Amino acid sequence: MDTNLPRERMADAAREAAPREAARPGRGSDLTGRVAVVTGAARGIGRAIALEMAMNGADVVAIDIAGPVSPSSDAEPATAAELEQTTLRIRALGRRTCGIHTDIRDIAALRAAADHIERAFGRIDILVANAAIQRWMPLLKMNDSDWLDIVDVNLNGTANTIRAFAPKMVARRYGRIIVLSSMQGKKGTKHAASYSASKWGILGLAKSAALELGEHNITVNALIPGLVDTKLTRYDKRLRESMAETGRAPPDHPLPEQAWAARAPTVALEVGWLQPDDVSPAAVFLASDAASMVTGAEFEVTAGDSAKTI
Ligand SMILES: NC(=O)c1ccc[n+]([C@@H]2O[C@H](COP(=O)([O-])OP(=O)(O)OC[C@H]3O[C@@H](n4cnc5c(N)ncnc54)[C@H](O)[C@@H]3O)[C@@H](O)[C@H]2O)c1
Repeated sequence: MDTNLPRERMADAAREAAPREAARPGRGSDLTGRVAVVTGAARGIGRAIALEMAMNGADVVAIDIAGPVSPSSDAEPATAAELEQTTLRIRALGRRTCGIHTDIRDIAALRAAADHIERAFGRIDILVANAAIQRWMPLLKMNDSDWLDIVDVNLNGTANTIRAFAPKMVARRYGRIIVLSSMQGKKGTKHAASYSASKWGILGLAKSAALELGEHNITVNALIPGLVDTKLTRYDKRLRESMAETGRAPPDHPLPEQAWAARAPTVALEVGWLQPDDVSPAAVFLASDAASMVTGAEFEVTAGDSAKTI
C-alpha cells in the first residue's frame, strides 16, 4: 500500500489491497465453515436464527438461561428441554453445536463460555445477541424490578455479550455481530417503557460498537423484527395490548387469532403476526460475505410496520 497517499485515501487503498469476496451465487446466505453463537436460542427468534444459520452451513452454539429470569418477565420461562431441542435440531442438520446454560447478566460466565467455545470450535465468527425479556406495566405502576431487570437483561446483557465475545473476533480480525432491537426501540410504547428504553439503548450500543470495531473488520448491525408470534408475545396481556393499539376494545382473554385479525389490516402485508423464520433469513444475510460493507445499520423485518416510521 502507498503510505504517501493523503489520509482520506488510505482507507480505500487498504480495502483495495485486502482480499475481497467476488460476487458469486449464494454469497448472501452461505455460512459454510463459520462458527456462530446465538443467545436466547432455546426458542423463538433465537432458535430460528440458530437453525437458519446451521441450514446455511454454520456450526452454532446455543446459549440460554433456560429457566426463570425475573419476576418482572411477562413470558413463561424457557426450559432446559427447549434448549436441548435446539441443539438436537442443529445436529440433525449435520452441524456441530453445543448448548450452554448462561445468564447474559453474568459477564464472567459469558467470558468463560467464549474461551470454551474458541477451544472447542476453533473460532467465533458470528455473534447474535438476541436474549431479552419484556414487561407490560404503566410507568407509574412499575416496581423497581419492572424497570431495573428489563434494562439489566436487555441492555446490560447485550453489552455484556458483545464485551465478552468481540475480543475473540478482534484477535482474528473478523466478526459479524447482530443485536436484536425492536420497533418498540424506535418509538415510544405505552405501558412498556422499560422494554422500549432498553431496545432504544441497544441501537445506541450497536452504532457505537460499529464505530469502534470497524477497524478490526467487525460489523455490528441491529435486526429489528415487527410483531412475532413467540412466547414473548403470546399471552393475554400482550394480545390485549396489540388489539388496543388497533383501536379495538379487547376482550379479557383474546384468542391469538382475534388479535391477529384485528391487527392484520393495519399492516402493509396484512399479516397480524410474523413467524420467527420470517425474521431469521435477515440474520443470515447480515452474517454473510455479501453484507461485508453493512455496519451500524438497522435492518427491519416488519411486514410493513416500517412504513409508518421514519
Ligand atoms: N417476539 C416479538 O414480537 C419481537 C419483536 C421485536 C423484537 N423481539 C426481540 O427478539 C428477541 C427474541 O425474542 P423472542 O420473541 O424470541 O422471545 P422468547 O421469550 O421466545 O425468547 C427469548 C429467549 O431469551 C432467553 N433469555 C431471556 N433472558 C435471558 C438471560 N438473562 N440470559 C440468557 N437467556 C435469556 C429466554 O430464556 C428465551 O429462551 C428479543 O431480543 C426480543 O426483544 C421480539
